[in-house]
Amino acid sequence: MLRTHTCNQLNTADVGTFVTLAGWVQSRRDHGGLLFIDLRDRYGITQVVFHPGENPDAFGIGDSVRSEYVIQIQGTVLARPQEMINPTLPTGEIEVNVEKITILNAAKTPPFEIESLAQAKEDINEERRMTHRYIDLRRPHLKRNLIVRHEAIRFIRNFLSEREFLEVETPLLTKSTPEGARDYLVPARLHRGKFYALPQSPQQYKQLLMVGGLDRYFQIARCLRDEDSRTDRQAEFTQLDLEMSFVQRDDVLALMEELFLGLIDFLNAKGWISKKVQSRTLPRLSYDDVILRYGVDRPDLRYGLEICDITNQVKESDFSVFTDPISQGGVVRALRVPTGSIFTRSQIDELTQVARKNGAGGLAYIKVKSISDGVYIADSPIIKYLGEETTQQLLASLSCGKGDIVFFGAGPHNIVEAVLGAVRSDVAHRLSLADPSTLALGFVVDFPLFEGAKVNGFCAPMHHMFTMPRKEDMELLDSNPLAVKSWQYDFVINGNECGGGSIRIHNPQIQQKVFDLIGFSQEQKKRFAHMLDAFEYGAPPHGGIAIGIDRLLMLLLDEPNIREVMAFPKTGDARDLLVGAPCDVEPEQLRDLGIRVIMQK
Ligand code: AMO
Repeated sequence: MLRTHTCNQLNTADVGTFVTLAGWVQSRRDHGGLLFIDLRDRYGITQVVFHPGENPDAFGIGDSVRSEYVIQIQGTVLARPQEMINPTLPTGEIEVNVEKITILNAAKTPPFEIESLAQAKEDINEERRMTHRYIDLRRPHLKRNLIVRHEAIRFIRNFLSEREFLEVETPLLTKSTPEGARDYLVPARLHRGKFYALPQSPQQYKQLLMVGGLDRYFQIARCLRDEDSRTDRQAEFTQLDLEMSFVQRDDVLALMEELFLGLIDFLNAKGWISKKVQSRTLPRLSYDDVILRYGVDRPDLRYGLEICDITNQVKESDFSVFTDPISQGGVVRALRVPTGSIFTRSQIDELTQVARKNGAGGLAYIKVKSISDGVYIADSPIIKYLGEETTQQLLASLSCGKGDIVFFGAGPHNIVEAVLGAVRSDVAHRLSLADPSTLALGFVVDFPLFEGAKVNGFCAPMHHMFTMPRKEDMELLDSNPLAVKSWQYDFVINGNECGGGSIRIHNPQIQQKVFDLIGFSQEQKKRFAHMLDAFEYGAPPHGGIAIGIDRLLMLLLDEPNIREVMAFPKTGDARDLLVGAPCDVEPEQLRDLGIRVIMQK
């Protein structure tokens, strides 16, 4: 080894020991003729000191090194003078008196500073960070994130291994498993004109493993989806993917509950995170319920702010903004915000923009100024249309208090849900209602099998085409497929979808039926013939889930972007700036593949 200790190991027990350390020069200071270097490695920092009188050669070399040089030093551990002790460092009570120094490698001036965790900077240019990711990785918060990522995955592996799960790798060169995004395609040199698809998820293989009798599978699986990146989404990401045979929905959810409470406890105990869990019994909320109460299917449960349906209360009013949509089958819903009347005109204008962006024409509201003898003194241009009596009844039914504001949405139910859902989360942000140190975990269940309305007579799967419809709704598959509920479930944390899964179809007739409802042609069905075939040979009932590991860690570590928990992430337009991918290839490579590139604007 080129070292006897790492840079966080030495303490007063080592005083007098001759040691060899190696690492990077974090900083270099001249103090009254003495030279101090903070030597850094993955584990920590140790101060080393050069005396010009005692070791002039070492001093000379030490004086020549610059930030980020890689050096090896040899010397004796000394106790620091009392006034020089640094209580924030594990090695803060000692220093190493350098007798010999070797420069293992010089370094150019880094494009940005490798600061300590306490000084972590947010303002370093993102492109520069990604181009020099190997330097970025030396920064403490990225290093910490990768360590926590490792610890979390190790916990998950152990937890599942102890429960009879087998970790199985599934192919990367495969055939499309649609999960709602475009596929990345790989040309097959040996089969000109044909392509492999990189997996959007191991969905089909994990189901086939169940048919193969493996019973319990998991994988820390790389998934590839050709979709635009967002703060919580990358083209290439990692799932904890798992599947179980002979289970029902609640068996999968109970396992997930135990796993994630255990994981959070473990990371808290290790000091890697500091998070409270809102409720250790994770709520199972029905899709219809969350869409009504929160306007979204991944609600942030850290705060209330529930949306109420008031269609019946206002349908007889003279306010056409409400009654017109109702007469066309729409709804009117209200969001009461306690203390919200503090919002200024311009803040309400901003909220109105949020509502407009989500499809509303505007954002009606009533401010409750006070309550006198049980009568609301309210302020809003809409009261004269709603009528005094309706307004009073409405505010009472919403349990309004002094200083509240009520926002309204009217229109088709899906628009009203989107509008009030967005206003709800914007308001919560403005009023700091979500405690950042709390994790509100929960499951959304009872999803519809299909999403939205039919297009050209066909349905679109809410999750994916392998999800089992509810037994009691099977008959509706023919008469009213959009009303069919499924065994899909989502795992949500603080308003983010962190996982999704379902009990699967294991019967070829039901799978055929779902393919038909989706509008698959014979040709498209043939692409999934292996699934239909497999179901003919004794497929057990099975179900599973996949959790977005990157997204989960981003939330646990309070990172604003998923890139911060990945070693080598991509830009928003899916480029790897470090290696320069994607890139041109040699003409011979294309010729081998039988590919000609046509550049189109
Ligand atoms: P789904 O598509 O819902 O389900 O994905 C499961 C979880 O993976 C994460 N995720 C992503 N994370 C980062 N970047 C992305 N582009 C991205 N896309 C998804 C999310 C999501 O909740 N095969 C099914 C699972 C199953 O049915 O078992 C599937 O992949 O956290």
